[in-house]
Amino acid sequence: MPRPRTARAPRFAAGCLAAALLACPTSCSGGGSPEPTAGATGLGDRLFPGAGNGGYDVAHYGLELSYDPGTGRLSGTAVVSATATQDLTRLNLDLAGLAVSRVSVDGRTARTTRSGTELTVRPAGALRRGSHFDVTVAYAGVPRLVTDPDGSHEGWFRTDDGALALGEPVGSMGWFPGNDHPSDKAAFDLTVSVPTGLTVVSNGELAGTRTAGGRTAFHWRSTAPMATYLATVGIGHYTVSRSRTPGGVPLYTAVDPRAADATTTAALARLPEILDWETGRFGPYPFASSGAIVDHLPRGAVGYALETQNRPVFPGDGDGPAVDVTTLVHELSHQWFGDSVTPRSWQDMWLNEGFATWTEWMWQEHDAGVPLSRSAAEAFADPATWSFPPAAPPEAADVSAQPVYARGALVLYELHQALGGTTFDRLLRGWAAVHSHGNASTADFTAYCARLTGRDLTPLFATWLFGTAKPARL
Ligand code: TRP
Ligand code: ZN
Repeated sequence: MPRPRTARAPRFAAGCLAAALLACPTSCSGGGSPEPTAGATGLGDRLFPGAGNGGYDVAHYGLELSYDPGTGRLSGTAVVSATATQDLTRLNLDLAGLAVSRVSVDGRTARTTRSGTELTVRPAGALRRGSHFDVTVAYAGVPRLVTDPDGSHEGWFRTDDGALALGEPVGSMGWFPGNDHPSDKAAFDLTVSVPTGLTVVSNGELAGTRTAGGRTAFHWRSTAPMATYLATVGIGHYTVSRSRTPGGVPLYTAVDPRAADATTTAALARLPEILDWETGRFGPYPFASSGAIVDHLPRGAVGYALETQNRPVFPGDGDGPAVDVTTLVHELSHQWFGDSVTPRSWQDMWLNEGFATWTEWMWQEHDAGVPLSRSAAEAFADPATWSFPPAAPPEAADVSAQPVYARGALVLYELHQALGGTTFDRLLRGWAAVHSHGNASTADFTAYCARLTGRDLTPLFATWLFGTAKPARL
C-alpha cells in the first residue's frame, strides 16, 4: 500500500514543506524508500514555528568553550550527537549571531549556509534514517542577546566579572548551535575555560577542573536529559558552598557576594528544607544534585528568575532581593514540573507555570497557614487572570502571561476540590513519575487525569483549562 507523502506534513511549517516537496520529485511516492530530503527548518510549534528543526533527534551536546570576560568573546566547538529520523540531504541547527568557521559531519567537512537563526548543514553524503551522526561546529564571537516577542531578553548576558547564560524560550541558540525546542531533550557535557581565578557554574555536576597557562577549564556534566532552554552557565566571582539536604540531595550553590542581600541569604538557607518538602509532595527529586546560582547583573538586565535544570538562576540587579522564599519554592517546583516533565510545545507552558504557582500556594499553606482557598480567591479576583485560557496562549508573547500562571494554578485548585486531597496528591506524584525525564502535552495531562481517577473531568477542563469565559465562581 502506498504511504501517503503528506503523512508528516502537519508538523512542518508551510515553507519547509514546500522545500521538502521540491527536493523530492514525484517519483518518491512510488514503492521503496523515498529520496532523502531536507530536514525541516522548524518543528512547527504553533507559537514558535521556527524553533527547533526536523529530521533528527539529539542525544548529546558536547560543548568545549572558551570565554574572555575582557572582550566578551566566546569561542569553541559544539559537537551535536544525533539520530536521523528521516533520510536527510541536509539539516538545520538553530544559532543566533556568532561566526561559524568550520562544520563537519562525522569528521568530514560539510557545506553550510546561514539565514537568520538557521544554520543549514549539508553533509558530504545523505544521512540514513536511524543512523547516528555527530555534527561538529567551530564558532566564535561576542554573543548577542535574543529578544522575545514579549520584549524580554535571554541568551548570553555579559556581566561585569563574566557572563550568565539563560535560555527560555529560545535563548540557547544565542550561545550554542542546537535543536532549540523543548521537545528534543539531550544529555550535556559542557567545558568552559576562563582566566584562572574565575568560577564557572552550570547544570549537572562538576566532573573536573584543569588549570594550565593561566586558564582554568570547568567541566560540567548533565547525564539526565535536558531541554536546551534549561541550559545555563554562570561565569564570575562566586562564593561556592557545597552541602546536602537532610534527605541527602547534594547541593552546589554559587552566589555573587554583591547579590547576597539579606532576603536572598535567608531564602537560600531554606533551600534544603524546601527541596525535601517538595520531594515529600511530588516524589523523588529527579536529578543527581541541586543548588542555585545567584549572579550580579546590571539593573533591569534580566528581570526574571529561571528554573535552569537542577540549579536555578536568580539574577540580583540591585532592584529588590535576588530571590525570596516564594520564588525559590517556585523555581524548585519546576525541577519536577518543567525540567523533568518538560512541555511538548510552548503552548503547554501552563504545565510548568500553573504547577509552580500551585506549589507556591501549597507552600504558603504549609509554611504560613494561608488557606489554599485564599490564594485561589486572589487569583480568581484578578482581571489579568482571565485574558485567555491557560491551555491556549494566543500568541508567542503570551507564554509567560498571567493566565498561564494563575489560571493554570486554578485548574489544579479545581482538581483538588473535585478529587479531594488524597487523590490529588496521588495525581501530582503520578504525573511527575509517569513522564519523568520526558515530555508531556496538555492532552497527555487530561488523559492521565481521566485514567487515574476513572472520572469524566471533561466539564472541569472545558471550563477552567480551555474556556474563554470567567466562571461564575470558584
Ligand atoms: N520560567 C520563569 C519562571 O518560572 C519565567 C520566564 C522567564 C519565562 N522567561 C520566560 C516564562 C519565557 C515563559 C517564557 O519564573
Ligand atoms: Zn515559573
